[in-house]
Amino acid sequence: MPLDILVGAQWGDEGKGRMVDLLSVQADYVARYNGGDNAGHTVNVGGQTFKLHLIPSGIIHSHTTGVIGNGVVINPLILLNEIQMLRQAGVSINPDRLHISHAAHIITPACIAEDRAREQARGVDKIGTTLRGIGPAYTHKANRTGLRMETMLNSEEFAQATQADIEETNQTLNRLYTDQDISPMDATAIANEYCQYAQQLSPYIRDISLILNESLIKKRLVLAEGAQGTLLDLDHGTYPYVTSSNTISAGALVGLGIGANWVRRIIGVTKAFQTRVGDGPFPTELGGKGHVDDPEQVALAGHLRGTGANPWDEFGTTTGRPRRVGWLDLVLLRYAIRINGITDLTLTKLDILSGLESLKICNAYRSVNSKGQAEIYKDLPMGPGNLTGVEPVYEMLPGWQQKIRDLTRWEQLPAEAHAYVLRIQELSGVPVQMVSVGPERSQIITLT
Ligand code: GDP
Ligand code: IMO
Ligand code: MG
Repeated sequence: MPLDILVGAQWGDEGKGRMVDLLSVQADYVARYNGGDNAGHTVNVGGQTFKLHLIPSGIIHSHTTGVIGNGVVINPLILLNEIQMLRQAGVSINPDRLHISHAAHIITPACIAEDRAREQARGVDKIGTTLRGIGPAYTHKANRTGLRMETMLNSEEFAQATQADIEETNQTLNRLYTDQDISPMDATAIANEYCQYAQQLSPYIRDISLILNESLIKKRLVLAEGAQGTLLDLDHGTYPYVTSSNTISAGALVGLGIGANWVRRIIGVTKAFQTRVGDGPFPTELGGKGHVDDPEQVALAGHLRGTGANPWDEFGTTTGRPRRVGWLDLVLLRYAIRINGITDLTLTKLDILSGLESLKICNAYRSVNSKGQAEIYKDLPMGPGNLTGVEPVYEMLPGWQQKIRDLTRWEQLPAEAHAYVLRIQELSGVPVQMVSVGPERSQIITLT
């Protein structure tokens, strides 16, 4: 059987964890291929809520094997805590059902200190990172100075490497950020602490490319779980307001060591509206910068975001920051479909749109060119790196008042919800296969 890849089609938090959990019913392996604990993937099953940062969301099903690929950067403490959290919740985790790539890179306190210092130094131009050390860990990887999981297998070598890593960062931070008064980290204490983590994690370290490829040959289904979203991709996102890994479908091949010949489906997950946490452009944002005084926009934003009273309200799973919200952007969705080769779409959080008079979809941008002429375009001419100055061109659709969270069949949805979903399908050119109407595993509608 093949490789299916699930990717976020927006700026992350699309509901990937919830969809991976659902699709894992059929999967043998569920594999994270990028990012680190900047990800926060929520799975709700029978009233139990799991917030996963590193372990693939398919792990809740007892038949699956979880894999953390070479493309992931791992904070060992976060991983160990997550293993413990899952065990306490009754999920069995052991080296037979969780494999960690020997080539995945390790996030140390040095990476986290560097992340914080860099963000502080950028001031108003900050990226708005999760401060989890993600950027520095990938920088060390590209610099060929990073620590890989396989180093953990030799405790003496690992202790030396960790100590050297911390000492070097102490010097670098001291030299580069003189105005920040950064206290040096205790390299020996950290090396000792990390050696204990190494001991606990060593039994999980494997060549995951070998395991996954042998499984694919035996016709097992591998489901690759993307973290973050297309617009946060290092190469193809809203650079520089991106994360430091390849979040898109191609990242799954690199981040797991699998050939393109195995790919069957590329499932894009998008919310029924748009959200973003962190800084960077957001053309369809409601009630954001420049609109804070518009009560209508602020009220709409409040409707989409929620108040934080519900676990699914738009407050970051990892950071707790309120998410920026706006109307669905089809220019960016079509871009995500192209960059990933998305074969089918899943739409989440349709239930949140209940109760709105009318809905808007952005299907084009208007901008003024260098000759002062207004131009309309439906596709990004130069990627999403520079979205400043673009103005969304909206189509209006009627909303619906009915609550839809308990509905289980497509025919039960109000006519306006049908029209909204089908219009997205039409404008995107890709079939919408499933619509999620609530955070619970069962709150899903399959289109026939
Ligand atoms: P991920 O990072 O893509 O896995 O998404 P997050 O877990 O960070 O954020 C998605 C949030 O929306 C979580 O709180 C989910 O429980 C919730 N969620 C997912 N699908 C739905 C849905 O269809 N309706 C509602 N109301 N909440 C949903
Ligand atoms: P999941 O997998 C939403 C954002 C941060 C910031 C930018 C860079 O849950 O969808 P980083 O710490 O990666 O260097 O931050 O990326 N970001 C996310 N936004 N969901 C995520 O993950 C994110 N992971 C990183 O907010 O804007
Ligand atoms: Mg998330």
